[in-house]
Order: sequence, then C-alpha cells, then structure tokens
Amino acid sequence: MTQTKAVRTVPRQIWVATRNAHKVQEIAEILGAGFLLRSLLDRPDLPDVEETGSSFYENAAIKARSLWNIVREPVFADDSGLEVDALDGRPGIHSNRYSGPEHTHEKNISKLLVELRSVPPERRTARFRCTIVYIDAAGSESSFDGVFDGYICDEPRGTEGFGYDPVFVVPESGKTVAELDAATKNSISHRGRAVVALKRLLENAR
Ligand code: IMP
Repeated sequence: MTQTKAVRTVPRQIWVATRNAHKVQEIAEILGAGFLLRSLLDRPDLPDVEETGSSFYENAAIKARSLWNIVREPVFADDSGLEVDALDGRPGIHSNRYSGPEHTHEKNISKLLVELRSVPPERRTARFRCTIVYIDAAGSESSFDGVFDGYICDEPRGTEGFGYDPVFVVPESGKTVAELDAATKNSISHRGRAVVALKRLLENAR
C-alpha cells in the first residue's frame, strides 16, 4: 500500500518596513498564509527613517534598505500616495503629512476638499500610486508599481480602509474605497497590484 505523505509548508518570513497597521493588514491578506509578515510594529526599538527621497521609488528604497541593514533577511517597503490632476499631482509623496506636522487622515482629507472646492466633478480625477522595493537575503533589489485610478468626491463616505479612502471614488461602482470590503479593495488597489507582483516573484524564487 502506498502512503501519501502530508507536505507541511512552513510560512516564509518576510519583513515590511512600516508601522501603519492598516497597510500591514492589507499586505498580509494579499500575501496569504504562505508568508509570515513581520513589520516595524514588532520592533518599536527601531527609529523611524526620514523619507527624504523625491519619488515613491526613492522613499521605498530608503525604508527597505534601512531595515535590511538591520535584519539582513528578505524585506520590502512600500511608498504610496495620492496624485490629484487638478492639483498638479499633489499631495503625491507628501500624502501622509499633507496637512502639516500634526497631520491626521481626517485633517488631510479636509485640506484636500478645501483645495478642490471650486473644481467641478469632471476635473477631480486622481490616482493612488504604490511602489514596492524588495531586497532579498543576499541584498539584491527589485521594484514593483501599482496604480489605482478614480476621482475625488466632495464629502467623505464609508468607514473601511484608511487615509484618503473615504473621498476616493472607484468610477466603475461609484463607491468610495471606504465603502468597499477589504478583499474588494485589495483586488483593485495600487497596493494590491504591487503586492501581487511581489508575491509572484517570491513564489517563482522558491
Ligand atoms: P506612506 O506611508 O509614506 O507610503 O504614505 C502613504 C500615505 O498615502 C498614507 O498615509 C495615505 O495618506 C495615502 N495612502 C496611501 N495608500 C492609501 C490607500 O490605500 N488608501 C488611502 N490613502 C492611502
């Protein structure tokens, strides 16, 4: 009689250089059970790095390299943000601190809506962008991009997600991202697309 041996796969540990719990949760859901995701939330002892780059790529690389230099294990960082056409691409790489040193997601949204108050619906087009920089255990780097197109509505709706989700509308459904469940957001979002590309690389590198 032949016996089939159960194959138990051990999740692969990978670090993500963020303290944003929402991002960690989104990324963990996309990577799935095959990966053990660790983040800076597990390492309160490490200092925050200054995001001094002038592009999503440069900031993601700064964050990923800083963590890799400490753990010397597979790491990645994402840098993401919102580009609004009527604001010449702002807030862009400054999305997180858009409303200043005391920024919160609510203050960022209020500032955005004030800046767009006289802009008509057809000119409120925008996109989220995400760039991931991944560094393997040997120090070799790869990067992945994701884009999510939509437009900015004139008042917040919904309670899911984070950041600008309550004012970013998905054209196909007319819903804001904060009105979508997590799985639906991940299937169409900038971060979802970039993480799926990273996951493909990791699975092929097995
Ligand atoms: P980061 O942590 O430097 O990448 O900053 C990202 C900032 O861009 C966040 O704090 C949000 O303001 C905005 N952002 C990025 N991704 C999203 C998203 O999926 N939904 C809403 N806002 C986002």
